[in-house]
Amino acid sequence: LENGLALTPPMGWLAWERFRCNVDCRADPRNCISETLFFEMADRLAEDGWRELGYKYINIDDCWSAKQRDAAGRLVPDPQRFPRGIKALADYVHARGLKLGIYGDLGTLTCGGYPGTTLDYVEQDAQTFAEWGVDMLKLDGCYSSREEQAEGYPEMARALNSTGRPIVYSCSWPAYQGGLPPKVNYTVLAEVCNLWRNYDDIQDSWDSVLSILDWFSANQDVLQPAAGPGHWNDPDMLIIGNFGLSYEQSRSQMALWTVMAAPLLMSTDLRTISPSAKEILQNRLMIQINQDPLGIQGRRIVKVRGKADVFGRADRSSTGGHNKDGEGGDAEKHEQESCGSWGPAGTAAPQGKEKSHIEVFLRPLSHAASALVFFSRRTDMPFVYTTSLAKLHFPEDAVYEVQDVYSGKIISGLKTGDSFSVVINPSGVVMWYLYPMALPAQPWHVVRQQA
Ligand code: GLA
Repeated sequence: LENGLALTPPMGWLAWERFRCNVDCRADPRNCISETLFFEMADRLAEDGWRELGYKYINIDDCWSAKQRDAAGRLVPDPQRFPRGIKALADYVHARGLKLGIYGDLGTLTCGGYPGTTLDYVEQDAQTFAEWGVDMLKLDGCYSSREEQAEGYPEMARALNSTGRPIVYSCSWPAYQGGLPPKVNYTVLAEVCNLWRNYDDIQDSWDSVLSILDWFSANQDVLQPAAGPGHWNDPDMLIIGNFGLSYEQSRSQMALWTVMAAPLLMSTDLRTISPSAKEILQNRLMIQINQDPLGIQGRRIVKVRGKADVFGRADRSSTGGHNKDGEGGDAEKHEQESCGSWGPAGTAAPQGKEKSHIEVFLRPLSHAASALVFFSRRTDMPFVYTTSLAKLHFPEDAVYEVQDVYSGKIISGLKTGDSFSVVINPSGVVMWYLYPMALPAQPWHVVRQQA
């Protein structure tokens, strides 16, 4: 959506995955959906280094409203849980240099059973949100038909625009239509929405992260071109800091969401987050890569082939019949297990038969830089993966400087043809930021890289 907003993927915090529809403030005052939760989370965003890194949006999800609209037909917050009202919350958030997001649902009810925005309420609700000082709207799609969605989502875009207030518009529309053409038209979507949920809700488990990653990768030929400044695919929230992911898995979600140019919307308790989870979420180079101004979504360029096995979830893209798209892309045409050789440290690589269970993702960045993620789907031990930039289809005769995004280690002078090895932990990643030190045919790159 060309409203001048979300030129890079939105960053912030969203209540849903961690705090759900907990409305029992008597039993659980600290964690229930109430203004207290948002005041406290806003303090954390403002005081613990998040805001400066770009985590600016604090977003309310479902279950904030009263069970009924008011006498004038307006949406109103639950008076017990939000006694000061949304406007006061917005003022509080703005005073701390943050932005406020809210949740609505195009349909008779929200997914949690609160008043929805039927077509006849679209304009009024847009006005209400703007009057409150809301900066972002997530418009869900429970309890509406395909036809109502086709009308209502663009209608809300118009209604938000005519309020005159800049409001980032997040649509759940494609997720309700299966996420794929012909039911979903990504050209239309990019014109109507700033970001959109394509697929299932994330849950607090590694299995959920993998199922989302696999779906986005299998369908990357459709999804990848749809993303760009002002319009992003949204694989859903970051669950880092919660209960379901190990340390390695947390680093993997962060790296993989970053190469997917995903919005970075954390859903975790920032009051109690561990130092290690915080460090992952606050990695500066990671965020710089996520927020790259070119806004090109990355792609999986090497994938695990074959059926489900002891190393983890079946790669749906290689077993399902629906995968024509996933295998048609330029990059994956060349992807192959064999482009990296494998073997535990110090052993000879078995010849061709065994699979490494390593996937590689690549995201092109501005100034001819790029990000590479080596992702292990193994469950045995750290794995030594050997490959070269040539095998990953980097331009010939180039020399790169590489920075490991997590360790900070720098490798200087890596040539495209050089063989190199990375050690990848089970369900973990090694992530590289690379930029050309010199491209003999194009010497101006040298100058550009000095910035
Ligand atoms: C749907 C959405 C979730 C969340 C819930 C709220 O499931 O996809 O992200 O907003 O509704 O009820």
